[in-house]
Amino acid sequence: MILPILKFPDDRLRTRALKVEAVDDTIKTLVRDMFETMYDSNGIGLAATQINQHLQVVVMDVPNSFENYQLILKNRKTQDKKSPNKKNPLCFINPVITKKSGRGINTEGCLSVPDYYADVERFNHIVVEALDENGKAFTLEANNLLAVCIQHELDHLQGILFIEYLSKLKQRRLREKIRKQ
Ligand code: NI
Repeated sequence: MILPILKFPDDRLRTRALKVEAVDDTIKTLVRDMFETMYDSNGIGLAATQINQHLQVVVMDVPNSFENYQLILKNRKTQDKKSPNKKNPLCFINPVITKKSGRGINTEGCLSVPDYYADVERFNHIVVEALDENGKAFTLEANNLLAVCIQHELDHLQGILFIEYLSKLKQRRLREKIRKQ
């Protein structure tokens, strides 16, 4: 089921997501709906916050992200590395970033802030621990676009949008632009 995506400046985007207690059928349905919603909007990442479900669930599909996988530890398969053009869905439940290093600037966009792109500085190498869509724990080491995307989506779970990293002036201009529309 395709779900409506909250748009800035909706205050519900500022909600902090709660931890998922158990990866049950309700969560599995949520994950399925989130993938459907993300693909329908041609997004590469979606946090549950954006569809007004305030649980720590993120879905992602970064094109050719196999290049950015340093290593997939523990329970995740590595077969995606061999098929670069295949869809590469990733689900993170209760994700926690355990290591981060190297700073870089990338242009970001967001399904909750349509048609707006801006440069944001983040870590370009991270390690994240999470549960997958079946409740299995995994650790992922990610670089570049995949690492940026993970940080962007995890921010959503804390009620933070990428535009909050911009100068106050740029934020004010964006608000004015949206108000005029
Ligand atoms: Ni976003």
